Amino acid sequence: MRVNTRFAAAAAGAAVLALGLTACGGDDSSDTSSGDGGSSGDSAGEVEVFTWWAAGSEKAGLDALVGVFNEQHPDTEFINGAVAGGAGSAAKDLLQSRLQTNDPPDTFQAHAGAELQDYISAGQIEDVSDLYDEFGLTEAFPADLVDRLTVDGKIYSIPSNIHRANVVWANPTVLEDAGLDPAATYDSMDDWFTALDAVEESGVTALSVATTWTQVNLLETVLLADLGAEGYNGLWDGSTDWEGAEVTGALEDFEKLMGYTNTDRDGLDWPDATQQVIDGQAGFNVMGDWAEAAFAEAGKSSPADYTYFPVPGTDGVFDFLADSFTLPVGAPHPDGAKNWLETVGSAEGQAAFNKAKGSIPANTDADTSDFSEYQKTAIESFGQDTIVSSLAHGAAVPVATLNDISDATSKFTTGASDLAGYQSELAAAVNG
Ligand code: GAL
Repeated sequence: MRVNTRFAAAAAGAAVLALGLTACGGDDSSDTSSGDGGSSGDSAGEVEVFTWWAAGSEKAGLDALVGVFNEQHPDTEFINGAVAGGAGSAAKDLLQSRLQTNDPPDTFQAHAGAELQDYISAGQIEDVSDLYDEFGLTEAFPADLVDRLTVDGKIYSIPSNIHRANVVWANPTVLEDAGLDPAATYDSMDDWFTALDAVEESGVTALSVATTWTQVNLLETVLLADLGAEGYNGLWDGSTDWEGAEVTGALEDFEKLMGYTNTDRDGLDWPDATQQVIDGQAGFNVMGDWAEAAFAEAGKSSPADYTYFPVPGTDGVFDFLADSFTLPVGAPHPDGAKNWLETVGSAEGQAAFNKAKGSIPANTDADTSDFSEYQKTAIESFGQDTIVSSLAHGAAVPVATLNDISDATSKFTTGASDLAGYQSELAAAVNG
């Protein structure tokens, strides 16, 4: 059994993996005879897979996974239920209304951690513990990741990947033109501000950002840089004071960073902001490592065309999130969903998907020998860094809290609140 004790606030302890024999959740009365596709009639004839990987490099990742699925389960038709909008900005609301009207897809994407707990608490997804045994996955995933998919000893989804949210992506030509060393990294926000000033003075956008959720992604990395991993974790467990001076300082840095960004940001999604770095219209972009897939898709290679490093002040910390796939209560094709889950969890599925997605496999048996240099650094960092939970991507807080934080952030960055008001609204969002 693999135990990763560097995960903060692991929920239920490593014993969870020993509970793989737990029976499948009660309501599923369909034929659950096997995961080998086509053996159980209509229930395995198709699978509607609901994600927000609708376009560009994200769709390329999904397509790679579907390629393996079609080989492993040729008798189950893949139905693409993707809804566009980065980080599930549109998909999650639509999914919620489908779940509430008893019209679930056969499986949907959900983040490990607090977001998944929402669906579990609402009774919207099935226990899939038995599938871990059936597919031989019990030993394959880091135990502390499985803890984030588990309640009361029942495991509620199968993870497809591990992404890192605290990465800066940079255009070396833009930096050189601004008189900077493109190989430089920066120890703190203050060091980075000097470089951002230089890029701004060269007449190019210093830091590209997009719509609200990308601004929240930026915010979480600033909180992490300025409070450190322990202080950042304390924001979610109550031991760091949201109204305190340290948070004020971090919000001042966030405000300063937003001052370096493109003015068209609120009309853009993450691919547009990353594209500005790809095209040399911006020096830096803070984005999760799905951006790696966008650089690859654009035919760019590092370090000639782009560079990357942890957000200044967060070196040694891996700001973690994982997508996972569920079996919704009342799924119309539960056997199709089980076939999908089998591919998602498999070493082959994880190798193909993650190579194309910029992430790293959650299944430690997956072959990563042909992964990119960036992905190799992510694998190494995940193995040795302190791991914290992403705010913007469902790991740290429930969806309702994230929605309140997003609303407060949008208000602040569009000038509708001042810093003191923003800080109070964030404190209220988290503390209730
Ligand atoms: C995250 C998701 C990633 C990626 C990103 C941008 O929430 O976990 O896989 O899709 O959003 O859309």
